[in-house]
Amino acid sequence: MAWSAHQYLKFEDERTRPARDLLAQVPLERVLNGYDLGCGPGNSTELLTDRYGVNVITGIDSDDDMLEKAADRLPNTRFGKADLGKWRPSHPADLLYANAVFQWVQDHLAVLSQLMDQLESGGVLAVQMPDNLEEPTHRAMRETAADGPWKNTFSDGGLHRKPLPAPSAYFEALAPKSVRVDVWHTIYNHPMKDAESIVEWVKGTGLRPYLAGAGEEHREAFLADYTRRIAAAYPPMADGRLLLRFPRLFVMAVKK
Ligand SMILES: C[S@@+](CC[C@H](N)C(=O)[O-])C[C@H]1O[C@@H](n2cnc3c(N)ncnc32)[C@H](O)[C@@H]1O
Repeated sequence: MAWSAHQYLKFEDERTRPARDLLAQVPLERVLNGYDLGCGPGNSTELLTDRYGVNVITGIDSDDDMLEKAADRLPNTRFGKADLGKWRPSHPADLLYANAVFQWVQDHLAVLSQLMDQLESGGVLAVQMPDNLEEPTHRAMRETAADGPWKNTFSDGGLHRKPLPAPSAYFEALAPKSVRVDVWHTIYNHPMKDAESIVEWVKGTGLRPYLAGAGEEHREAFLADYTRRIAAAYPPMADGRLLLRFPRLFVMAVKK
């Protein structure tokens, strides 16, 4: 299931806002060996290199298209291909920063706890993940998948991201290894032109596995059905725009 940097970057400003908000809370003035995990097309990496310098940050991602775009954008920054379920830095890091990726990594709580062991004392793990599975965007994906000629394709249920664990689970996993753990939610409200724009947004992320599952044969019908549900779930404001509510979970831990 390949990612598309082009599709992802259609909403670059909105998608990079939580990356900025996460970085604003990182209490490090300088970094010598930092990583942008799930760097995507380099939008979040650029925030890190602007703050800490191009030579001290490495971007890691598992997708070739994303890595190619990232290298074009930041030609003097190191990038590497790896699966974050197994990746470890070659030597202890002082910053492990991950914007909008660990929701895709199986058993990410255990992985985050193991990554704490890869930090130097005083090093920081900073993570942001969408917490939007109960939002209309994602309910409508499940409803569309369950109700159409394609429904048998989705019978294994394996397409869905799992709900995030409760905030307390992050404290329990990380606090024994940390001097400080900070967990918070922010709910963004993005004004969107119309239902089609919301569909374009999720096509870059959450809708990808559903469209891949529906296959070429059903793709257009699946999209039409899904778009109809989105139009019904997001009523227009007075100026005609729709408000896309988007809750996100932030986690930051400073290593003991
Ligand atoms: C939603 S994008 C986030 C991009 C960027 N960090 C940002 O802040 O906008 C998620 C990225 O995580 C990558 N990804 C997903 N699962 C991964 C895994 N198991 N290991 C490494 N990268 C992964 C995808 O290829 C994609 O580039």
